[in-house]
Amino acid sequence: MEKLRIQGPTRLQGTVRASGAKNAALPILAACLLTDEPVSLRRLPAVQDIRTMVRLLAHLGLESSPIDDGLRICGSVLEAATIDDEAPYELVKTMRASALVLGPLLARRGHARVSLPGGCAIGVRPIDQHLAGLAALGADVRLQHGYVEATAKSLQGARFRFTMPTVGGTENVMMAACLAKGTTVLENCAREPEIVDLAVLLNAMGARVEGAGEATLVIEGVESLGGCEHKVIADRIETGTYLIAGAMTGGDVTVEGSHAADLAPLLEKLDENGATVEGRDDSIRVRCQGELRPRGIVTEPHPGFPTDLQAQYTALMTQANGLATVAETVFENRFQHVPELVRMGADIQIEGTHALVHGATPLSGATVMATDLRASACLVLAGLVAEGETIVDRIYHLDRGYETMESKLQSLGARVERIHSS
Ligand code: EPZ
Repeated sequence: MEKLRIQGPTRLQGTVRASGAKNAALPILAACLLTDEPVSLRRLPAVQDIRTMVRLLAHLGLESSPIDDGLRICGSVLEAATIDDEAPYELVKTMRASALVLGPLLARRGHARVSLPGGCAIGVRPIDQHLAGLAALGADVRLQHGYVEATAKSLQGARFRFTMPTVGGTENVMMAACLAKGTTVLENCAREPEIVDLAVLLNAMGARVEGAGEATLVIEGVESLGGCEHKVIADRIETGTYLIAGAMTGGDVTVEGSHAADLAPLLEKLDENGATVEGRDDSIRVRCQGELRPRGIVTEPHPGFPTDLQAQYTALMTQANGLATVAETVFENRFQHVPELVRMGADIQIEGTHALVHGATPLSGATVMATDLRASACLVLAGLVAEGETIVDRIYHLDRGYETMESKLQSLGARVERIHSS
């Protein structure tokens, strides 16, 4: 089991470059199932979830070969007898986003059998909306033995409204609709920048998707899709994590490659907290020398404050002078980082969907355990300001979504190292 050992406190200073967005790359990789032609993807982050998705695509008949900072995914030769339409439990249980192959497999091959992803640390995370959307396009969807079995001779364009803005649901149904006959109108869609990036890729493949980034998507089905080249957008959540680290340590951090517009809710909040924020089109700088002011947040679907930055912002508020209320409205169990922060000296009470953070409290280094991807990042940030040594255990969670975090932090002056223990 690998761990991170962090010596604090440290003031972070310097510049890092954002990696490609994991949550854009995952649906984009799944979209490669929609064509037999090669798709070249650049700026793919070298993180565990991407490696898992590439393994799943190989299982489904797609081959990949390395190109500079990415992969060339070669389409599946449908006639090959070895082609499998099943995403097995062994793979899906390690990464819920495997469910994103459902829509493309169904649209391209007329059949898909995908293990139900099951819940994870932050919540039950059903995919009922994914299935309802595919059924609206004419798919026969059955649940049995923990698997989803979906079949459709051909998909028909339809009008469908999601009961809530779901990122994965919007992506799955949008991809399937690209090869449906006729027009599909999807309402109450999620609006995340990663969905926009997926639509850019799909249209480069010959799809006709309009309205990505808005609540209503209109997709004109086409006969087939071709190959293309695409550079994945920068990871706004990784970017926000390093910017919060800069503010939290009283430092001066610049992240290159990211668009300030994609992080507006966080940047506005950091400005209210008293940090100096400089957002440019291709880089963002955060400095914070003085006192941190407490400000509450409510996590919401984009363009609201991203739930994926909630844990990191909660850590920041432990260093602000006063009470800050953090409301988590997207997932039902996303405060698992709080007990570990309290063990380091934070003063936080949880009341239902709210965490009441009473700052500023000095943090002291401790051995803490990561429970999920973003909670891990939160504990690393806490270790950067804590007095003494912090050991963050189970950092395989971190490796799912952060590319070489320790080396990026070291380049900003952090005293952090990865330790291997039996
Ligand atoms: C995506 O998950 C991201 N993952 C998550 O990032 C992110 O937290 C989430 O969107 C919200 O922004 C990827 O993109 C791979 P949802 P997803 O469907 O698509 C409920 C990270 O740390 N819901 O938008 O699974 C669901 O339970 C990860 O990088 C249904 O009820 O999220 C949740 O409460 C964590 N039925 C809410 O909607 C459905 O069919 C939002 O989920 C689908 C979702």
